[in-house]
Amino acid sequence: MNIKEGMMREGALKGKTIVITGGGSGLGKAMTKYFMELGANTVITSRRIALLRDTAKELEGSTGGQCLPVQCDVRELAQVEAVRDAAIDKFGKVDILLNNAAGNFISPTERLSANAFKTIIDIVLLGTVNCTLTFGKHWINTKQDKGNVLNIVTTYAWTGSGYVVPSACAKGGVVAMTKSLAFEWAKYNIRFNAIAPGPFPTKGAWDRLLPGNLKDDLDISKQVPLKRVGEHQELANLAAYMVSDFADYMNGEIVTLDGGEQIRAGQFNNLEMIPNEMWDQLEAMIRSTKKK
Ligand code: COA
Repeated sequence: MNIKEGMMREGALKGKTIVITGGGSGLGKAMTKYFMELGANTVITSRRIALLRDTAKELEGSTGGQCLPVQCDVRELAQVEAVRDAAIDKFGKVDILLNNAAGNFISPTERLSANAFKTIIDIVLLGTVNCTLTFGKHWINTKQDKGNVLNIVTTYAWTGSGYVVPSACAKGGVVAMTKSLAFEWAKYNIRFNAIAPGPFPTKGAWDRLLPGNLKDDLDISKQVPLKRVGEHQELANLAAYMVSDFADYMNGEIVTLDGGEQIRAGQFNNLEMIPNEMWDQLEAMIRSTKKK
């Protein structure tokens, strides 16, 4: 076994149609590829149609599956509705929506214009709302037997994070929506879950989040307790399980996949700096404080 291998059984997503926003590149592409290897039909969307077409062709060639590229800015409801129609035209139905499209860049918040803030909220939160309402209402109105939404969020949706404040606000909203609709739409047999990935390097995101020398200067892997970044297949494995029928009882769950990065804040975690030899001495000092 190695972490770059697929973990699901062959055909685990056979007969499923999955819409992946932002599926043309990065993590969206990695998840799309694995879904296709498992037998799913996929629909990938982004603003860049040329890139989508190249990705669809490449993935159809390497997996033997089907991938429909549809241009869509998730901020535009009419474009999202057009994705729904194109997907149904081509595959007859949609079973799963993966809200993966995002927008983000680092900046001191006082440098942001109102429009810069709004742009990220619109892509991340409003985009997820547009897609969720479009497919959710469709599933409800057509009485489809089940629906399934997986949202990609982030660990700083809970902790907050400086320098990516619009993204933190928007992802916090997506977490709230995931849990709220997991309850409200359970009566329609629509599941809602999310993954909060830690550092999984991709060209697009890392050029925006760690531009220039920052990548080397900050060496993100050092802040992960497991001292490494994630492999794309590790995320694809988790996503494939969560969208599959094997996870039918999972609803309202946010799964963190970050090598422990999120729990760095633990009050005494800095004690990691203490060398092993010093612990005998420290233990003796602690024990000596015990009242006789
Ligand atoms: N710092 C400060 N403000 C910035 C900025 C930066 N690095 N980049 C963009 N902005 C501002 C713009 O100046 C504009 O505000 P203004 O009208 O007040 O001047 C506002 O943000 C919108 O920018 P614009 O380029 O018009 O938006 P867009 O919709 O074309 O692009 C982005 C959206 C900004 C998210 C762009 O970075 C993008 O397309 N990213 C690709 C997707 C992505 O980010 N993926 C996830 C990676 S983690």
